[in-house]
Amino acid sequence: MSLNRIEKWLFEKTGVLSERVGLERIRQAVVIRMAENECLNVDEYFVLLTNFESEHDAFIAKVMVSETWFFRDEVPYHFLSDVVQQRVKKESLPCHILSIPSSSGEEPYSIAIALSEIGIDKEKYIIDAIDINREIIEKAREGIYRAHSFRGKDKKFLDLYFKKIGEKYHLNNAIKSRVNFAIGNVLDLDNICAGRFYDIIFCRNLLIYYDQKTQLQVLEKIHNRLQKNGILFTGHAEANSILNQYFTGIGPLGAFSFSKRKIIADQTSRNFEETSHLNNRASESNPLKIEKEEALSSVGHQERHHADLYIQELASKIEKVANSGDLDEASRLCQVILSDSLDPEVYYVCGLVMEAKGEPHSAEALFRMVLRWDSEHYNTLTHLAANLQARGKNAEATKIRKRITHQLKDNVDEPG
Ligand SMILES: C[S@@+](CC[C@H](N)C(=O)[O-])C[C@H]1O[C@@H](n2cnc3c(N)ncnc32)[C@H](O)[C@@H]1O
Repeated sequence: MSLNRIEKWLFEKTGVLSERVGLERIRQAVVIRMAENECLNVDEYFVLLTNFESEHDAFIAKVMVSETWFFRDEVPYHFLSDVVQQRVKKESLPCHILSIPSSSGEEPYSIAIALSEIGIDKEKYIIDAIDINREIIEKAREGIYRAHSFRGKDKKFLDLYFKKIGEKYHLNNAIKSRVNFAIGNVLDLDNICAGRFYDIIFCRNLLIYYDQKTQLQVLEKIHNRLQKNGILFTGHAEANSILNQYFTGIGPLGAFSFSKRKIIADQTSRNFEETSHLNNRASESNPLKIEKEEALSSVGHQERHHADLYIQELASKIEKVANSGDLDEASRLCQVILSDSLDPEVYYVCGLVMEAKGEPHSAEALFRMVLRWDSEHYNTLTHLAANLQARGKNAEATKIRKRITHQLKDNVDEPG
């Protein structure tokens, strides 16, 4: 069965690359939808898919990965609470928040719960939540969840905001009423926002399904929709150098939060000023002034080479600053560099800084990121073992030490 046309259609409609959602997933969705519609072949199904909105919706519902849960990563929600609290103290207008893609509602409802927890009046904020999948938006509006929507360690909020009926958890109406759900496509953000601008946009775990060109298009749209001092939250795997075109890291480690680049350009250039002439070259051009074509070509080879050198320079600066004892400055630089790099060495250095600062949980998270990329990173393994031991996690520390011993043994046993 040739799925090329359907893959192309999916990409054009949603920006999603078929290989990122999985070809088998697409094949299965087509097989199921063909059977349900009694189509004899893919060509017949393609006509149905491209001409009937109801089939468009049914196919999208089958093919999209809607994986999500309440308080997915905790740090973003802590930072969000701080930001909104400060903002509502200063501003008379409500704080506008957008969650796109919202999937089945766990993310926007977590936002509402986080704000309710710190006692922010419901008139002080507005939460819009958008997803392309009609079925999932209907589920979100119902606000009824199963246990797998609650995967975080902290489940105190369950008793406060949900009522358990049988195996399911029903969200209370007060929280449900704080989120406005809509069906929409992020590629069409300007139209679906209908003139609204946001103080905060959560766009998490969507860009990972896109190629670089689509990521840049979406980031540009988000940039346009954010208020001057707005903040973007992304997924951890999305906090990469592509974002750097329009945004710059802000907030604590692990928040994966960004402000519009123009806003803190002065502050950023002050941070990097002394780092090297390469940094200066990299920040010479204001990306917001470049036309889109230029922006796309600027992620070309030469620019990436400069960016790599710039990251290396910054990493060694962090080491120097940390060794000089200025751990606050080192940690601030870590936040900047982590938004630009997915390099295990960078994460390792930042883990050391967090360790030195007495923040073992952040250090552990960073060390574990390193091991995802390089499971045999010896220095990281030894630091992680010590970190866990110091916090009384003896069994985990022993496991890591065993890993190190095996690794060393394998290296000795290996011929040559
Ligand atoms: C993995 S979920 C992410 C949900 C949530 N933001 C999170 O991080 O937990 C990805 C969602 O993206 C939605 N999606 C995919 N393409 C989209 C598009 N072009 N516009 C809006 N939503 C889209 C899917 O329907 C799916 O619900």
